Amino acid sequence: MFETIEDAPAGWYPVASTQEVGTAPTLLPRFGTRLVAWRGPQGVVIGVDACPHRGASLALGRVRDGRLVCPFHAFAFDAHGACMHMPDVAAPAPGLRMRTFPCHEAGGLLWMWAGAGAPRGLPGFFEWLPADARTTLVAEDWEAPFDLVVENQLDHLHLHAVHPDTVGRGVVPTAPVKVLPEEDRVRVWFSDSTDARSAFAEYRFPALWGTKVGTTLALTIGFAPISATRTRLYLQGHRGFARAPGLAALVDQGIRRFHRKVLSQDRPIVESQVHAPRAADRLFRSDAAIRWFRERLTHAVKTPTSEDAAAAGAPRAHA
Ligand code: FES
Ligand SMILES: [Fe+2]
Repeated sequence: MFETIEDAPAGWYPVASTQEVGTAPTLLPRFGTRLVAWRGPQGVVIGVDACPHRGASLALGRVRDGRLVCPFHAFAFDAHGACMHMPDVAAPAPGLRMRTFPCHEAGGLLWMWAGAGAPRGLPGFFEWLPADARTTLVAEDWEAPFDLVVENQLDHLHLHAVHPDTVGRGVVPTAPVKVLPEEDRVRVWFSDSTDARSAFAEYRFPALWGTKVGTTLALTIGFAPISATRTRLYLQGHRGFARAPGLAALVDQGIRRFHRKVLSQDRPIVESQVHAPRAADRLFRSDAAIRWFRERLTHAVKTPTSEDAAAAGAPRAHA
């Protein structure tokens, strides 16, 4: 997956935290592609980091008067990617545009729409997070493909084995678990009951997972594909307690330390998974959510490539 941006199943992906993108252009390697993001007067803009004139990195440029200025010949691009200024003629360059993508900030993250079609709705966080929560963030890059990183979150049986002293403490592997898939999401209930007080994990295709630990505590992970073999995790803790100034910063620190420890327990295992193709895996009852995910991936809508179009006898799209 994610040799190129066209490989992405259509959907919203968290590609950065809001703090990562400022008013200077920022290079974001995502989906096996160099992207550039910058914060203009109307919000964040994200596009391919290659000037459509002669391919220079726009991340080396600067933002002036709300436009991204290429470092090579100073062509200037607006928030829609249109070239509004060529220095030698002091006029726009008709038809010259950098490729940009729909994006939206929500929940402390910058979301980008990738894949076929127009964005469907807006990226939304889970409605079951604690109200007025204070949020902590830990971001980490793993040397593992996007699908393996997602599958690790859908894999409840590893909790007791990998996290005996953290999030798997007291987890009994024989305890009942309910896996309830829907069209674009799957919920894993950690008990026989599915009432509002029970703990569960939920994954929303393609790039958001979370778990409700209690009414005042939840954890979410946004998955950002960097390349075919590398994925960034944005792990956020959401809590409805210890929010008072002074105390809050101390509790934030402790939570971040705890979350880093949890990730350090998962990471070497996930990076060690060697089955390729995944079909070599032997899946069991406990892997029901993973089975659902793989099925969902095969039905994911992809951007048709020019080869697909040619194979279907359709006219080739303009590059
Ligand atoms: S390469 Fe960007 S302006 Fe020429
Ligand atoms: Fe884990």
